[in-house]
Amino acid sequence: MVTDSVSSAVRAFQAPKGTYDLLPPDSAVFLAVREAIAAPARRAGYGYVETPGFENVELFSRGVGESTDIVTKEMFTLTTKGGSELALRPEGTASVLRAALQANLHKTGNLPVKLWYSGSYYRYERPQAGRYRHFSQVGAEAIGAEDPLLDAELIILAVDAYTDLGLRNFRLLLNSLGDRECRPVYRAALQDFLRGLDLDEETRARIEINPLRVLDDKRDSVQKQLADAPLIRDHLCEACKAYHEEVRALLTEAGVAFEDDPRLVRGLDYYTRTTFEFVHDGLGSQSAVGGGGRYDGLSEMIGGPALPSVGWALGVDRTVLALRSEGVELALPAVTDVYAVPLGDEARRALFGTVTALRRAGVAADFAFGGKGMKNAMKSANRSGARFALVAGERDLAEGVVQLKDLGSGEQTAVPLAEVVASVKARLV
Ligand code: HAM
Repeated sequence: MVTDSVSSAVRAFQAPKGTYDLLPPDSAVFLAVREAIAAPARRAGYGYVETPGFENVELFSRGVGESTDIVTKEMFTLTTKGGSELALRPEGTASVLRAALQANLHKTGNLPVKLWYSGSYYRYERPQAGRYRHFSQVGAEAIGAEDPLLDAELIILAVDAYTDLGLRNFRLLLNSLGDRECRPVYRAALQDFLRGLDLDEETRARIEINPLRVLDDKRDSVQKQLADAPLIRDHLCEACKAYHEEVRALLTEAGVAFEDDPRLVRGLDYYTRTTFEFVHDGLGSQSAVGGGGRYDGLSEMIGGPALPSVGWALGVDRTVLALRSEGVELALPAVTDVYAVPLGDEARRALFGTVTALRRAGVAADFAFGGKGMKNAMKSANRSGARFALVAGERDLAEGVVQLKDLGSGEQTAVPLAEVVASVKARLV
């Protein structure tokens, strides 16, 4: 009994499988990465959208695709007490489009509707390095316009985000998946080819439901047989070909390097025409740091009007891992600039007031709480990373001063209490 309750108590501290907590100081890196990914999109007119963490299951089964791994194997679903079937969102695109349709944003006469988002997503996957059951994405979607410039804009924004973060070893893979005119012809040609191969039962079934996904099979035995598989690029209709060439030309003009990958299919069914993925070579098998593409048919798939759209989502967790693998240190703002160390009750009250004044003046300031002794309080001051300690005892207060100690050089100056804020601000610039 005792062991049971102990082990369940231990388990209560354990984050669920495939998840992890973000804690200081690492959590600051995540915030900075989210911010850095969103910044270029914001500058390009994308407005912030936030949707619920769960949606009706049907949105994803219809939107992401009934035969995708995401829908068949990876959704966290639940039935509410009222009998509704809900799913924790496995991705953001279907939700953002649903929200735009629900609010009639597409009817304001100002297309494309440009939206960005940042949040948690959930997939019941086999956890491994870089693959989690709870992860974080920042995404951008441009809804309601068919224009190769928009595809190029989004790709450039993602490249700029990675570049601004200081990431270097990422590659952009680019493909076109055709449209409702040319894709079915290609699909049939691919099915013909695949039916002649030596494949297991499950893969044979996939040929009939989702043959493009077979191209993405990671097993050597399958890949070997795919060497002569027909490629979509040889089956694109004239309109898709011209569209794709325009996107490629725009990227080249913007100085964006890309690799044509005629086998890039992606794990979601809604893509048409432009599809792309950002991969990073320092991440092992989970190398995709971000991905996206055009989804001209998704709105109709979920019951809306025709709204050609394009977007991406970049994985925050994997971007952080990629930065780490390259040894990139982000320039993060100081958590604490000033740390107050009071000696005695009177000083506690006086310095607490000074800390409040510093914070109101925009200075990051913290305080030795809990009545710590001088030695412990100075240890905390050093640990906080602050540039200055503010130390005051009874004698200082009697003289109307506090000691401003530079924690780097050890130099100490007596500063009149009334001048602390101005003096600290002057030293911090
Ligand atoms: P996705 O490729 O499924 O696309 O996910 C985008 C990124 O999210 C991936 O490249 C990866 O970095 C990250 N990610 C996905 N699953 C996991 C996981 N289990 N653990 C850690 N990171 C993960 C989408 O979600 C589409 N909604 C993108 C899009 C937007 N397409 C058009 N608009």
